[in-house]
Amino acid sequence: MSSTSTLADTLADTLASQADVTAEIRAVQLAAQPGETQPRLDFAPYRSSLLRHPTKARPLVDPEGCELVAPVFGHSDVNQLEADLTIQAGGDPVGERMVVTGRVLDGDGRPVRHQLVEIWQANAAGRYVHKRDQHPAPLDPHFTGVGRCLTDADGWYRFTTIKPGPYPWRNHHNAWRPAHIHFSLFGTDFTQRMITQMYFPGDPLFALDPIYQAITDQAARDRLVATYDHELTTHEWATGYRWDVVLTGSHATPMEREGDDDA
Ligand SMILES: [Fe+2]
Repeated sequence: MSSTSTLADTLADTLASQADVTAEIRAVQLAAQPGETQPRLDFAPYRSSLLRHPTKARPLVDPEGCELVAPVFGHSDVNQLEADLTIQAGGDPVGERMVVTGRVLDGDGRPVRHQLVEIWQANAAGRYVHKRDQHPAPLDPHFTGVGRCLTDADGWYRFTTIKPGPYPWRNHHNAWRPAHIHFSLFGTDFTQRMITQMYFPGDPLFALDPIYQAITDQAARDRLVATYDHELTTHEWATGYRWDVVLTGSHATPMEREGDDDA
Protein backbone atom coordinates (compact mmCIF):
# COMPACT_ATOMS: atom_id res chain seq x y z
CA MET A 1 0.00 0.00 0.00
CA SER A 2 1.42 3.39 -0.91
CA SER A 3 1.70 6.27 1.51
CA THR A 4 -0.88 8.12 -0.60
CA SER A 5 -3.51 5.44 -0.21
CA THR A 6 -2.74 5.19 3.49
CA LEU A 7 -3.46 8.88 3.88
CA ALA A 8 -6.62 8.58 1.82
CA ASP A 9 -7.77 5.62 3.88
CA THR A 10 -7.09 7.53 7.08
CA LEU A 11 -9.09 10.52 5.89
CA ALA A 12 -11.92 8.28 4.77
CA ASP A 13 -12.04 6.72 8.21
CA THR A 14 -12.68 10.13 9.76
CA LEU A 15 -15.76 10.74 7.62
CA ALA A 16 -19.24 9.49 8.41
CA SER A 17 -20.69 6.80 6.19
CA GLN A 18 -23.57 7.42 3.81
CA ALA A 19 -25.75 5.21 6.04
CA ASP A 20 -24.96 7.41 9.04
CA VAL A 21 -25.76 10.61 7.12
CA THR A 22 -28.95 9.16 5.66
CA ALA A 23 -30.07 8.22 9.18
CA GLU A 24 -29.31 11.77 10.38
CA ILE A 25 -31.38 13.20 7.51
CA ARG A 26 -34.33 10.96 8.41
CA ALA A 27 -34.13 11.90 12.10
CA VAL A 28 -34.22 15.63 11.38
CA GLN A 29 -37.05 15.28 8.90
CA LEU A 30 -39.17 13.16 11.22
CA ALA A 31 -38.91 15.90 13.85
CA ALA A 32 -39.64 18.74 11.39
CA GLN A 33 -42.94 20.53 11.26
CA PRO A 34 -44.88 20.20 8.00
CA GLY A 35 -44.76 23.15 5.68
CA GLU A 36 -41.14 24.12 6.30
CA THR A 37 -40.47 25.00 2.71
CA GLN A 38 -37.08 26.73 2.73
CA PRO A 39 -33.71 25.01 3.28
CA ARG A 40 -32.47 24.61 6.86
CA LEU A 41 -29.48 26.89 7.33
CA ASP A 42 -27.92 24.70 10.02
CA PHE A 43 -28.60 21.19 8.78
CA ALA A 44 -26.21 18.83 10.58
CA PRO A 45 -26.03 16.21 7.80
CA TYR A 46 -24.73 19.04 5.57
CA ARG A 47 -21.54 19.38 7.59
CA SER A 48 -20.21 22.78 6.58
CA SER A 49 -23.56 24.45 7.23
CA LEU A 50 -23.00 24.03 10.98
CA LEU A 51 -19.96 26.28 11.02
CA ARG A 52 -21.05 29.02 8.68
CA HIS A 53 -24.78 29.46 9.11
CA PRO A 54 -25.90 32.82 10.49
CA THR A 55 -26.31 32.86 14.26
CA LYS A 56 -27.83 36.34 14.47
CA ALA A 57 -30.80 37.89 12.75
CA ARG A 58 -29.91 39.72 9.60
CA PRO A 59 -29.80 43.49 10.10
CA LEU A 60 -32.29 45.26 7.92
CA VAL A 61 -30.59 47.99 5.96
CA ASP A 62 -32.37 50.41 3.70
CA PRO A 63 -30.77 50.18 0.28
CA GLU A 64 -29.06 53.31 -0.92
CA GLY A 65 -31.21 55.27 -3.30
CA CYS A 66 -28.96 54.48 -6.22
CA GLU A 67 -29.22 50.77 -5.47
CA LEU A 68 -32.97 50.93 -5.99
CA VAL A 69 -33.06 52.96 -9.15
CA ALA A 70 -29.76 52.27 -10.90
CA PRO A 71 -29.98 49.51 -13.50
CA VAL A 72 -28.19 46.28 -12.66
CA PHE A 73 -27.58 45.70 -16.36
CA GLY A 74 -28.67 47.03 -19.67
CA HIS A 75 -30.42 45.00 -22.35
CA SER A 76 -27.42 45.42 -24.59
CA ASP A 77 -25.26 43.75 -21.91
CA VAL A 78 -26.84 40.33 -22.38
CA ASN A 79 -26.28 38.71 -25.76
CA GLN A 80 -28.88 36.14 -26.84
CA LEU A 81 -26.06 33.72 -27.68
CA GLU A 82 -25.14 33.56 -23.98
CA ALA A 83 -28.22 31.38 -23.44
CA ASP A 84 -26.66 28.59 -25.52
CA LEU A 85 -23.93 26.84 -23.51
CA THR A 86 -23.18 24.47 -26.40
CA ILE A 87 -21.68 27.08 -28.72
CA GLN A 88 -19.35 28.98 -26.42
CA ALA A 89 -16.03 27.26 -26.87
CA GLY A 90 -15.35 26.42 -30.50
CA GLY A 91 -16.91 22.98 -30.73
CA ASP A 92 -19.66 20.66 -29.57
CA PRO A 93 -19.40 19.73 -25.87
CA VAL A 94 -19.72 16.05 -24.95
CA GLY A 95 -22.97 14.87 -23.42
CA GLU A 96 -26.74 14.95 -23.72
CA ARG A 97 -27.78 18.20 -25.39
CA MET A 98 -30.88 19.56 -23.68
CA VAL A 99 -33.14 22.57 -23.56
CA VAL A 100 -34.37 23.85 -20.22
CA THR A 101 -37.08 26.47 -20.20
CA GLY A 102 -39.73 27.83 -17.90
CA ARG A 103 -41.25 30.95 -16.44
CA VAL A 104 -40.21 33.19 -13.57
CA LEU A 105 -43.37 34.10 -11.66
CA ASP A 106 -44.28 36.08 -8.58
CA GLY A 107 -46.46 34.64 -5.82
CA ASP A 108 -49.63 35.65 -7.64
CA GLY A 109 -48.64 33.87 -10.84
CA ARG A 110 -47.68 37.04 -12.67
CA PRO A 111 -44.68 36.87 -15.02
CA VAL A 112 -41.47 38.54 -13.86
CA ARG A 113 -40.42 40.30 -17.02
CA HIS A 114 -36.93 41.08 -18.33
CA GLN A 115 -35.32 39.37 -15.35
CA LEU A 116 -31.67 38.36 -15.51
CA VAL A 117 -31.35 34.59 -15.11
CA GLU A 118 -27.85 33.15 -14.75
CA ILE A 119 -26.90 29.46 -14.60
CA TRP A 120 -23.75 27.52 -13.81
CA GLN A 121 -23.22 23.78 -13.84
CA ALA A 122 -20.84 20.85 -14.11
CA ASN A 123 -20.16 19.23 -17.48
CA ALA A 124 -21.48 15.83 -18.54
CA ALA A 125 -18.75 14.13 -16.52
CA GLY A 126 -19.67 16.02 -13.36
CA ARG A 127 -16.66 18.37 -13.43
CA TYR A 128 -16.70 22.14 -12.95
CA VAL A 129 -14.23 24.54 -14.50
CA HIS A 130 -13.10 25.68 -11.06
CA LYS A 131 -9.79 25.43 -9.22
CA ARG A 132 -11.47 23.81 -6.21
CA ASP A 133 -12.89 21.00 -8.34
CA GLN A 134 -9.98 18.62 -8.82
CA HIS A 135 -11.73 15.26 -8.72
CA PRO A 136 -10.62 12.82 -11.43
CA ALA A 137 -13.24 13.48 -14.11
CA PRO A 138 -12.37 15.15 -17.42
CA LEU A 139 -12.81 18.81 -18.21
CA ASP A 140 -14.45 19.48 -21.57
CA PRO A 141 -12.55 22.03 -23.66
CA HIS A 142 -15.84 22.90 -25.38
CA PHE A 143 -17.88 23.60 -22.26
CA THR A 144 -17.58 26.42 -19.72
CA GLY A 145 -20.79 25.63 -17.82
CA VAL A 146 -22.02 29.21 -17.49
CA GLY A 147 -24.81 31.06 -19.28
CA ARG A 148 -27.39 33.78 -18.85
CA CYS A 149 -30.45 35.29 -20.45
CA LEU A 150 -33.27 37.71 -19.82
CA THR A 151 -36.85 36.59 -19.31
CA ASP A 152 -39.20 37.80 -22.03
CA ALA A 153 -42.39 39.81 -21.65
CA ASP A 154 -44.24 36.70 -20.38
CA GLY A 155 -41.51 35.72 -17.91
CA TRP A 156 -40.00 32.92 -20.02
CA TYR A 157 -36.34 31.97 -19.89
CA ARG A 158 -34.70 29.36 -22.14
CA PHE A 159 -31.25 27.73 -22.19
CA THR A 160 -29.61 25.18 -24.45
CA THR A 161 -26.98 23.21 -22.57
CA ILE A 162 -25.59 19.77 -21.75
CA LYS A 163 -27.13 17.61 -19.05
CA PRO A 164 -24.72 17.82 -16.09
CA GLY A 165 -23.38 14.69 -14.42
CA PRO A 166 -23.46 13.90 -10.69
CA TYR A 167 -20.23 14.60 -8.84
CA PRO A 168 -18.53 13.63 -5.56
CA TRP A 169 -17.99 16.04 -2.68
CA ARG A 170 -16.40 15.73 0.73
CA ASN A 171 -19.35 16.08 3.07
CA HIS A 172 -19.05 12.42 4.09
CA HIS A 173 -17.58 9.20 2.74
CA ASN A 174 -18.75 8.42 -0.80
CA ALA A 175 -20.94 11.55 -0.96
CA TRP A 176 -22.35 12.38 -4.42
CA ARG A 177 -24.50 15.31 -5.46
CA PRO A 178 -27.52 14.61 -7.67
CA ALA A 179 -27.14 16.23 -11.10
CA HIS A 180 -28.23 19.86 -10.90
CA ILE A 181 -28.01 23.30 -12.47
CA HIS A 182 -27.44 26.36 -10.27
CA PHE A 183 -29.75 29.31 -10.96
CA SER A 184 -29.35 32.95 -9.94
CA LEU A 185 -32.17 35.42 -10.40
CA PHE A 186 -31.92 39.18 -10.17
CA GLY A 187 -34.80 41.54 -9.68
CA THR A 188 -34.55 45.20 -10.40
CA ASP A 189 -31.59 45.66 -8.04
CA PHE A 190 -28.80 43.61 -6.49
CA THR A 191 -30.54 43.38 -3.11
CA GLN A 192 -33.14 41.09 -4.65
CA ARG A 193 -30.78 38.40 -5.88
CA MET A 194 -31.89 34.82 -5.22
CA ILE A 195 -30.04 31.55 -5.81
CA THR A 196 -31.35 27.99 -6.11
CA GLN A 197 -30.72 24.67 -7.86
CA MET A 198 -32.72 22.74 -10.44
CA TYR A 199 -32.65 18.93 -10.40
CA PHE A 200 -33.68 16.18 -12.82
CA PRO A 201 -36.61 13.78 -12.31
CA GLY A 202 -35.99 10.33 -10.87
CA ASP A 203 -32.44 10.92 -9.65
CA PRO A 204 -31.40 7.98 -7.41
CA LEU A 205 -29.20 10.31 -5.34
CA PHE A 206 -32.06 12.47 -4.01
CA ALA A 207 -32.58 10.46 -0.83
CA LEU A 208 -28.85 10.53 -0.04
CA ASP A 209 -28.10 14.23 -0.61
CA PRO A 210 -27.94 16.48 2.47
CA ILE A 211 -28.28 19.66 0.41
CA TYR A 212 -31.47 18.58 -1.36
CA GLN A 213 -32.77 17.08 1.88
CA ALA A 214 -32.05 20.27 3.87
CA ILE A 215 -35.52 21.24 2.68
CA THR A 216 -37.62 19.13 5.02
CA ASP A 217 -40.94 19.51 3.17
CA GLN A 218 -41.33 16.96 0.37
CA ALA A 219 -43.61 19.17 -1.74
CA ALA A 220 -41.07 22.01 -1.53
CA ARG A 221 -38.24 19.66 -2.54
CA ASP A 222 -40.34 18.53 -5.50
CA ARG A 223 -40.50 22.12 -6.71
CA LEU A 224 -36.76 21.97 -7.41
CA VAL A 225 -37.18 19.08 -9.85
CA ALA A 226 -37.69 19.84 -13.53
CA THR A 227 -40.23 17.98 -15.67
CA TYR A 228 -39.21 16.08 -18.77
CA ASP A 229 -41.30 17.35 -21.69
CA HIS A 230 -41.35 15.34 -24.90
CA GLU A 231 -43.09 18.20 -26.72
CA LEU A 232 -40.03 20.29 -25.98
CA THR A 233 -37.67 17.53 -27.08
CA THR A 234 -36.56 18.00 -30.69
CA HIS A 235 -35.93 15.28 -33.27
CA GLU A 236 -32.29 14.21 -33.44
CA TRP A 237 -31.19 17.30 -31.53
CA ALA A 238 -32.00 17.84 -27.86
CA THR A 239 -34.10 16.60 -24.94
CA GLY A 240 -36.38 19.09 -23.22
CA TYR A 241 -37.07 19.98 -19.58
CA ARG A 242 -39.43 22.52 -18.06
CA TRP A 243 -38.93 24.25 -14.74
CA ASP A 244 -40.75 27.30 -13.36
CA VAL A 245 -39.38 29.51 -10.60
CA VAL A 246 -41.84 31.10 -8.16
CA LEU A 247 -40.19 33.92 -6.25
CA THR A 248 -42.64 34.50 -3.39
CA GLY A 249 -45.71 33.10 -1.66
CA SER A 250 -46.62 29.73 -0.20
CA HIS A 251 -45.46 27.88 -3.33
CA ALA A 252 -42.17 29.73 -3.64
CA THR A 253 -39.20 27.86 -5.01
CA PRO A 254 -36.78 27.02 -2.16
CA MET A 255 -33.83 29.42 -2.30
CA GLU A 256 -30.31 29.39 -0.86
CA ARG A 257 -28.74 32.24 1.07
CA GLU A 258 -25.83 34.29 -0.21
CA GLY A 259 -22.57 32.60 0.67
CA ASP A 260 -23.82 29.03 0.60
CA ASP A 261 -21.43 26.56 -0.97
CA ASP A 262 -21.71 25.97 -4.67
CA ALA A 263 -21.44 22.24 -4.17
FE1 LIG B 1 -23.10 22.27 -7.97
